[in-house]
Amino acid sequence: MTNVDPLWFKDAVFYELHVKAFCDSNDDGIGDFRGLIQKLDYLEWLGVTCLWLLPFFPSPLRDDGYDVSDYRGVFPDYGSLDDLRTFLQEAHRRGIRVIADLVLNHTSDQHPWFQEARRSPESPLRSFYVWSDSEKKYGKARIIFIDTERSNWTWDPVAKQYYWHRFFSHQPDLNYDNPELRKAMLEVMAFWLDQGLDGFRCDAVPYLIEREGTICENLSETHEYLKDLRKWIDERYQGRILLAEANQWPADVRPYFGDNNECHMAFHFPLMPRLFMGVRSEDWHPIVDMFTHTPAIPDECQWCLFLRNHDELTLEMCSGEERDYMYYAYARDPQMRRNIGIARRLAPLLENDRRKIELLNSLVFTLPGSPIIYYGDEIGMGDNVHLGDRNGVRTPMQWNVDRNAGFSKADPSKLYLPVITDSIYGYQTTNVEAQLQTPYSLAHWMKSMIAIRKKHPAFGRGTIEFLRPRNDKVLVYLRQYRDETLLMVQNLGGSAQAVELDLVKFAGAVPVELFGETRFPSIGDRPYMLSLAPYGYYWFKLRQAPSEETAYGIEGSVI
Ligand code: NOJ
Ligand code: CA
Repeated sequence: MTNVDPLWFKDAVFYELHVKAFCDSNDDGIGDFRGLIQKLDYLEWLGVTCLWLLPFFPSPLRDDGYDVSDYRGVFPDYGSLDDLRTFLQEAHRRGIRVIADLVLNHTSDQHPWFQEARRSPESPLRSFYVWSDSEKKYGKARIIFIDTERSNWTWDPVAKQYYWHRFFSHQPDLNYDNPELRKAMLEVMAFWLDQGLDGFRCDAVPYLIEREGTICENLSETHEYLKDLRKWIDERYQGRILLAEANQWPADVRPYFGDNNECHMAFHFPLMPRLFMGVRSEDWHPIVDMFTHTPAIPDECQWCLFLRNHDELTLEMCSGEERDYMYYAYARDPQMRRNIGIARRLAPLLENDRRKIELLNSLVFTLPGSPIIYYGDEIGMGDNVHLGDRNGVRTPMQWNVDRNAGFSKADPSKLYLPVITDSIYGYQTTNVEAQLQTPYSLAHWMKSMIAIRKKHPAFGRGTIEFLRPRNDKVLVYLRQYRDETLLMVQNLGGSAQAVELDLVKFAGAVPVELFGETRFPSIGDRPYMLSLAPYGYYWFKLRQAPSEETAYGIEGSVI
């Protein structure tokens, strides 16, 4: 990679995808690495700089690959290890980094470790897992997959003991009190880093270690272990990152950064539903309040901000009242609900309102952190709430109007999941090819937004200061880094709004709107007035020391 800045992830634009869902090169109905290689030009065109690959390891696929049965292989339908290496080279050649899931907390019950562990109490592998004679142990731990699981313990008739699992009962948790297991996982990490991966999205990290009398989440022993991982990685692999999946309140996520000696990044889970609440209630308070509850993180670390991902839109980090509101606002049909959340894609959540789609993307691209796009959301793909589990948001990428959305030439009945065919989001209407040919399509707009973000380091590295205007519908903040000041003004309301801003400390500066490079009237010593269209947003750079030119955007035009 040419960009060797170890803090590259602070300026990155992430893109999450599943190999099986992207492009099928051999027409067996399942996407593969060779197909993904063919589509790298598209991702380069879009401008994303780091891909997050969902699990591609051998697996019985009862949790879409998060049930790993071999940590050192590639699921054969997705290709070979060689294909993966070629893919990594091709991505790197285009300046695109790649991270992958590291499923630390559990394996599939089909993993040979578990198979041996359950069969022989004498085997050293027995204590790779967490066993008990009683299902009463660790009784304070909550159940996460409430739709399917009744207990965190499952009786194994072969082992004649219960085994511990925080997720599906076919996913036994690994025992991080065992130094041999820790060593084995380091070897797994080394294996993938040696292939050229740029880091890991560390799955389910809060649950690594359990202790009686606690809720078995975020324990100090877990943090000690992550510090060991980080030290190990820093000593051997410069510039590779750990991104924590810790679906917790900000105060509980903060320790996952440590003193820049645990994870480099962590998802900001509680912010996500508040972005949706903010736009639905036309009120900036839920968003700003979440930041007042977000502790500062070390300078070298970064939040990862997202709107949607491959799971349900989780409402775990919401009060009961907030949850009710979110279900009422976004999932009135019970078919749309999964566990504690909503299994829908971005465009249908926002009723395919282009203005709201742009606005929400504008928020995740300008609030502090690095944004992540879920594949297909950049073209406004839809979902299928009738598919089981979270499959409704995992359907094939829609490339064009050809058979199977151009994803695969296989017989449609062979596809790993059916393509979306409804009249609004179906591939005949919503597809990459059509959007590439339409200059004002969502995909083109996403590309411009990404390009603008990449030009201004303050987005990834700057401080944030919220201006609290009297108009509750207009969210306003400043991002500052070195000599750059950016001003974001976003209308969460569905009607035109005016707002008065106190920008006196910038008197003399000229706001330049970044999408059009348009100069606005300079800031004086009176309140700065702006009006915004419904769901409108401005990204301004404040240009200090204005030059002699005083032309505004409209001057020089023939009217
Ligand atoms: C978190 C992953 O995002 C989710 O898809 C998976 O089901 C659970 N971890 C369990 O592995
Ligand atoms: Ca294939």
